[in-house]
Amino acid sequence: MKVAITAVSGELGSAIAKRAVEKFGKENVVGTARTPEKVKSLGIKVFKADYNSKEDFLKAFQGVEVVLLISGMGDPDKRIEQHQKVINVAKESGVRKIVYTSIIGKAGNSTFDNIVNSNRQTEQDIINSGLDYAIGRNGLYIEPDIEYLDKYIKEGEIANCAADGKCSYTTRDELAIAYVQLIQNDSLNGKVYNLVGEAITQTQLVGYFNKYFNTSLIFNSLTPEDYLAWQQKHNGEFLGAVIAGIYTKIRNREFEIESDFKKIAERKHKTMAEIFSQFKN
Ligand SMILES: NC(=O)c1ccc[n+]([C@@H]2O[C@H](COP(=O)([O-])OP(=O)(O)OC[C@H]3O[C@@H](n4cnc5c(N)ncnc54)[C@H](OP(=O)(O)O)[C@@H]3O)[C@@H](O)[C@H]2O)c1
Repeated sequence: MKVAITAVSGELGSAIAKRAVEKFGKENVVGTARTPEKVKSLGIKVFKADYNSKEDFLKAFQGVEVVLLISGMGDPDKRIEQHQKVINVAKESGVRKIVYTSIIGKAGNSTFDNIVNSNRQTEQDIINSGLDYAIGRNGLYIEPDIEYLDKYIKEGEIANCAADGKCSYTTRDELAIAYVQLIQNDSLNGKVYNLVGEAITQTQLVGYFNKYFNTSLIFNSLTPEDYLAWQQKHNGEFLGAVIAGIYTKIRNREFEIESDFKKIAERKHKTMAEIFSQFKN
């Protein structure tokens, strides 16, 4: 089986590509990247391909049976078009199946909902394509929080508007395990799966930091309005709205999701304790 994985210059694409090489052999895996020079050594052929360019993907998908489409990072409306372009080229190129990395999230009206909705539209576009498919809805990665640790320590707190809402987190490595299964196992086709681990509150998150990284952080609970204003002041209008919207969705219980991970990966998702002890070492 020949597999193409998009956006292998990114963290999730490269994690999946590594797993796919282990499972299918490097001769059976190709990657695409908008910025190939960013790709770390994966040992596979990487085609330069921008989601805006049909021609780029026509070259990359030759002889490919399964495409793993990583969701893009642009403006939500533009993403829908970009993903549609990749789906169309897959169809034209004789690809049999698309596996798509979507996002979790019950419907709401936060400033993150346009991104969730754009992912839902691509899910629908894939379903409507007539190709075989399997769709994963990713939980929130915990890695960015780990990367912010120095900032959290400096501030003595994690401050956001999630209140006591729970969020179902995951890691890119856990997702990579699930996605290789979704690529390979055709009995999982035709469905949408929630790829998440444990759901925890921000107070619990702080507790994990304090236990595993020996910190003394507190959780500072802000109102959605104050947090949005703070985010937009510090991170700009677009990114600020995205981040504030995420925590508003957590507050509104829209990211507390039941997991399908075990069904896909044939083992339980790692616990937060396991994940934190792994990151600590
Ligand atoms: N679940 C979560 O917590 C979470 C968090 C953040 C993002 N996401 C979503 O999950 C996706 C994968 O996450 P990640 O951790 O791998 O993010 P990442 O490391 O930032 O990688 C994003 C990837 O998307 C590629 N990309 C963006 N626009 C593109 C375009 N027009 N054409 C081709 N490639 C394009 C980037 O290419 P370049 O290297 O050229 O920039 C990069 O390879 C993201 O793109 C985003 O949709 C999910």
